[in-house]
Amino acid sequence: MKARVAVHRDFRISTIDERLYSAFIEHMGRAIYSGIYEPGHPQADANGFRKDVLKFVQDLKVPAIRYPGGNFVSAYNWEDGIGPKDQRPVRLDLAWRSKETNQVGIDDFAIWAEQAGIDMMLAVNLGSRGLEDARNFLEYVNFPGGTTWSDKRRANGRQDPYDVKMWCLGNEMDGPWQIGHKVATEYGRLANETAKAFKGFDPTIETVVCGSSNDGMPTYPEWEREVLEECYENVDYISLHKYFGNKSNDTLNYFGKIEETGRYIQTIGGVIDYVKAKKRAKNDVHICFDEWNVWYHVREDDNRRIKEWDWPEAPALLEENYNFEDALFVAGLLNEFIRRSDRVRIACIAQLVNVIAPIRAEKGGPAWRQTIYYPYQFASLYGRGDALNIAVDAGTYDCRVADDVSYLDVAGVHDKEGGMLTLFIVNRHLTEAADLDVELNGFASPSLSEHLAMEGYDLNQTNGPTAPDRVVPGKGSGVGVEDGRLKGKLKPLSYHVLRLSVA
Ligand code: AHR
Repeated sequence: MKARVAVHRDFRISTIDERLYSAFIEHMGRAIYSGIYEPGHPQADANGFRKDVLKFVQDLKVPAIRYPGGNFVSAYNWEDGIGPKDQRPVRLDLAWRSKETNQVGIDDFAIWAEQAGIDMMLAVNLGSRGLEDARNFLEYVNFPGGTTWSDKRRANGRQDPYDVKMWCLGNEMDGPWQIGHKVATEYGRLANETAKAFKGFDPTIETVVCGSSNDGMPTYPEWEREVLEECYENVDYISLHKYFGNKSNDTLNYFGKIEETGRYIQTIGGVIDYVKAKKRAKNDVHICFDEWNVWYHVREDDNRRIKEWDWPEAPALLEENYNFEDALFVAGLLNEFIRRSDRVRIACIAQLVNVIAPIRAEKGGPAWRQTIYYPYQFASLYGRGDALNIAVDAGTYDCRVADDVSYLDVAGVHDKEGGMLTLFIVNRHLTEAADLDVELNGFASPSLSEHLAMEGYDLNQTNGPTAPDRVVPGKGSGVGVEDGRLKGKLKPLSYHVLRLSVA
């Protein structure tokens, strides 16, 4: 397959907000308990946090983390998680039919996030609760001292405020499954009042209002319009969520869902523009794609198990084992976020540890990295700078969810300060190698400084606790710069990170 690509340093889409590579972690399953936190584990530190898991997280350079939920947040009392651990209540987590011991709460999580070098992005409960508890939480987290809640924080050992700048106004409020589910106008008004109060407290706070839970919801995209009409001027982002899978075992259609996601982003972009115009508003609202990942391997089993179980504590839940095909999918989806980075400023892989996650931690055992860890890591490490608008001519295919899907999926990021151009490429063709020919315009003496590749694996191959490094990236070969053009062969079903020095 001939694959012609044209890159020009001046064809810029946008400067990428590094929060495009953020993550999400929820109090559910074994994400927190026996995920990041397992007192008594040989790798646990003095606070009970697992150092092996932390190291894998640090290696990802995650800029921000959304916490504590998810569906969980819609019936969560944040005060249950503060103060002496032996006095914290055990509660029923209605979202996941589990018991929540509250051994990790905001002050504990903040310690972990600080160690990991990650900014917190906190969600407030607008399901079972509302503005009153949200503002108390804000005061506890962000006020220096001398008030009821800030003094409680100080008494609990944290003197300085956390100064959290990003606040999510509830979670998936359009979903009938959500505790405290609301209709759009009802939620939009509550979100507006909450956002207004938060910005009144500190105008530099950024707020994220809930969009649809996914683009298959019956109320999509009308939900977004109605919600934004209530709160446009007081919000900075609207959230999008989408989970993916290949249940029909149709690889090309699976990859086509990336194209479909582009349409989802474009549609919400249109709704944002419409409401902005209708309101004669000055401010911009961007997209916060704060839940995305592959979730289908264990989904049906979990749905069945959850109905049958008797409120367990930190049960194994949503523990997907990702294969090589999923890694190719995640690489492509991250490419789409880069290509749409003018609209999508923040995106969160959902989730980070154990629950639909790139990192797994066995209870009492080792931590290991899934196949999808690597494309996420490479995008986070090397995908910072200007996203470039790249022309690709490599042949296309039609599938159930999209037409004209390119066999070659390419995103490019120019890090001007570092003098690097990084191309992220997936050859989605099932059988043919791509005969790559990249025109590099406007770059001074480009040379290939690194080529990382994931290739040659069976699509179903996975990693696991006893074979943690079965599917890993290696050094790529067969690509080089000739007469200012990048040329070479990319195997069918392969992923490449091509790093060019362009100083
Ligand atoms: O990430 C798992 C769940 O998926 C979250 O709790 C919810 O927001 C979404 O439906």
